[in-house]
Amino acid sequence: MTEKNLILAIDQGTTSTRSIVFGADTEALSTSRTEFGQFYPDQGWVEHDAEEIWRDVVRTAREALEGVGGNERISAIGITNQRETIVVWDRETGRPIHHAIVWQDRRTASLCQTLRQDGAETLVRERTGLLLDPYFSATKIAWILDNVSGARAQAEAGKLAFGTIDSFLLWNLTGGRVHATDITNACRTLLFDIHRQCWDKDLLKLFRVPEALLPEVRDNSGIFGETDPALFGRAIPIGGMAGDQQSAVIGQACFQPGMAKSTYGTGCFMLLNTGDKPVESRNRMLTTIGYRIGGKTTYALEGAIFVAGAAIKWLRDGLHLITHASQTDDMATRIPHSHGVYMVPGFVGLGAPHWDPEARGLICGLTLDATAAHIARAALESVAFQTLDLAAAMREDGGGTASTLRVDGGMAANDWFCQFLADMLQAKVERPKNLETTALGAAFLAGLSTGVWSSLDEVAGTWSRSSMFEPQMEGAQRKRMIDGWHQAVRRTLSQAA
Ligand code: G3P
Repeated sequence: MTEKNLILAIDQGTTSTRSIVFGADTEALSTSRTEFGQFYPDQGWVEHDAEEIWRDVVRTAREALEGVGGNERISAIGITNQRETIVVWDRETGRPIHHAIVWQDRRTASLCQTLRQDGAETLVRERTGLLLDPYFSATKIAWILDNVSGARAQAEAGKLAFGTIDSFLLWNLTGGRVHATDITNACRTLLFDIHRQCWDKDLLKLFRVPEALLPEVRDNSGIFGETDPALFGRAIPIGGMAGDQQSAVIGQACFQPGMAKSTYGTGCFMLLNTGDKPVESRNRMLTTIGYRIGGKTTYALEGAIFVAGAAIKWLRDGLHLITHASQTDDMATRIPHSHGVYMVPGFVGLGAPHWDPEARGLICGLTLDATAAHIARAALESVAFQTLDLAAAMREDGGGTASTLRVDGGMAANDWFCQFLADMLQAKVERPKNLETTALGAAFLAGLSTGVWSSLDEVAGTWSRSSMFEPQMEGAQRKRMIDGWHQAVRRTLSQAA
């Protein structure tokens, strides 16, 4: 019999869907990737077509499988996904009743504001470790139930299902047989008590979400179900699921308290492992679940920045300053300094530590000799400055100080950015050999449940570094730059913040 020791990881992100087949040595053997439609129906609104996402998942998975000669050697499938984005679908037909509302969507900002004014934030914070911000899922679910004709009544009658993208994909992969999610996705909905680790009735009431909509919540690693044989030629176990940022924690092997990773995708999400105790933040960081494996929960402190790679994408697609993201490395290196030009990429408001949904983006400090290179460099710098703000807040929270930060995601390939980040953080920045850490994390979770890897220790042993960046910048220069950044941020904040 052919040995089944390959894993198919499905990484469903904010702008792209990727399927990657990994070998037991963690090498990516076959990859298929596609970008998909972004819908902006109103100011601050962001939607996806969940059916398009599903079609892309099937197509890319089939292509990735073809790359390794078919499904025969596949032991299991792992799923990782953009978190907080929601889908509500009809249990009978499997069809979504509305476009998916994406984590970046700000349409429920005023509802969050009202709930805050009503004093609901303390309850939310205590139970979920999160804040009242439109970023999270609950107010988006309520919006769909209130705005799609008949939806609320159908939801109450148990005819509809809610899920984050992992859950929607699992439902479809299993031919509608399994309605479940994993704990890292559940804990981002504002409906889940991270201490008791269950859906919370008070929060369901607060956000007016009927319980009948909800998926079952499971550990990150374990058999969630099997694929419908019609999809990939045979039934394949789905052995692991995690939200993409938690999946990157696994892929980066940050298994010890005090270890931290930062992933530079559409946004940037820095997670610090705080062990088996949730650390409450006094600085508007998020307390979240890092992973739960074998019933054992590891918590994390998280700093969420909404725009990182999206700023570079904007330089390319909005400003047409570059044709490829990799050009920014060269542009930043070409000029001796940023010349006082700052960009605050508040395109969808600002996340941690400001949580200001009404803030908007800004470029300042322009003089006539500023060039495209200064703007590109300011965009890169803004992501490092934001990471610095997160690290400072986490330090103050007593979550521990990571002397080393493991980085991944698209921007981590940029040497100039990694060096600047090390300079700002005054910490070592480590880049792993395998930059596909998000997908790899899902592969690890799936492979742990089917015996491809036997333990987290074995997983940690596969991690290796490709480069390390150490702080070099002189103190006065660093301080000047950081002061300038904070001044620029103050100019973008709305009155409400
Ligand atoms: O919380 C949102 C996050 O999961 C999105 O990740 O990789 O698409 O920026 P990414």
